[in-house]
Amino acid sequence: MRDRERDRDSDLDLEFDVAELRKVELHLHHEGAAPPEFIRRIAQEKRIDLGKVFDARGNYAYTDFVDFLRVYEAATEVLKTPEDYARLTTAVLEQSAENGVIYSETFLSPDFCGGSDVGAWKEYLHAIREAADAAERNMGIVLRGVITCIRHFGPDKARATAACAAETAGDWIVGFGIAGDEAKGKPKDFSYAFDMAREAGLHLTAHAGEWGGPQSVRDAINDLGVSRIGHGVRAIEDLALVDQLAESGVVLEVCPGSNVALRVYPDIARHPIQMLRERGVKVTVSTDDPPFFHTTMNREYEALRTTFSWDREVFAEIARNSLDAAFCDADTKAKLAKRLEETPA
Ligand code: HPA
Ligand code: ZN
Repeated sequence: MRDRERDRDSDLDLEFDVAELRKVELHLHHEGAAPPEFIRRIAQEKRIDLGKVFDARGNYAYTDFVDFLRVYEAATEVLKTPEDYARLTTAVLEQSAENGVIYSETFLSPDFCGGSDVGAWKEYLHAIREAADAAERNMGIVLRGVITCIRHFGPDKARATAACAAETAGDWIVGFGIAGDEAKGKPKDFSYAFDMAREAGLHLTAHAGEWGGPQSVRDAINDLGVSRIGHGVRAIEDLALVDQLAESGVVLEVCPGSNVALRVYPDIARHPIQMLRERGVKVTVSTDDPPFFHTTMNREYEALRTTFSWDREVFAEIARNSLDAAFCDADTKAKLAKRLEETPA
């Protein structure tokens, strides 16, 4: 190793345990965070035959992104009542808290919770919030909800979902977004749903730039008016767009392990998160659908530490970016900011 490189590397303290760092997660799909054993238990209780969802080892089994969406929806089929979602919420928050997450935003889809009927959705939400409140008391983790419409269900369903979002917008449902198959339709088709959510005071995010190229990121910003992008990593293919993201402060909810598991990139070393960050884009780190992608927040952090030599300062910057971009109110943010500063040395 050349001297200068050694000097530079010796300045870096990489001897720390990422598990000790307090984390903020902005991109997590509620059902996608369900441990496989949780889904199996509920299926057994209800005597539901799940069909092709798990491999021989009991992990979720899928072949590509579209098949992943199929398996995701098949697993979600077993969750049929508000009580099921309360149990799911507890299971998800236990995992997050074990990984040092102190604040999490979860994507909730009224489509799966009562078929986007507003009355039914309110019952699901009540159950989810009760479980989240208990988790906050018992584990100190704070949860907020971002309602997501599902792109491959189409614009009409998205409007019904936006109506649920508008009816329940407030201090707990803080955002609105879109997930699902990025190949289906255009962001513009969903402008009406996003307008409804914006008028209800919700913050906005959209999945883009994962399967679509840079233009999909531009479209999400221009046609939906989002302040955050779910993934957005393929912006790297257009440096003018990267500079625009950096200047405008649009935040990317980056999920490196998800991108590698779904083969958007062959491995973490070739993932653009470091390049985006170096060019001034506000990046954050999340797990997306952790058991599907064999990841956790600690595993994401560990991979970034070893691959890009990220030290405590970089992770502190990531946590601050995440909290700044969180959709919760200022009081909640201020309390969480204190807890981030108190991250154990
Ligand atoms: N991407 C897009 N849509 C989704 C995902 C995801 O990771 N999980 C559930 N719906
Ligand atoms: Zn996602």
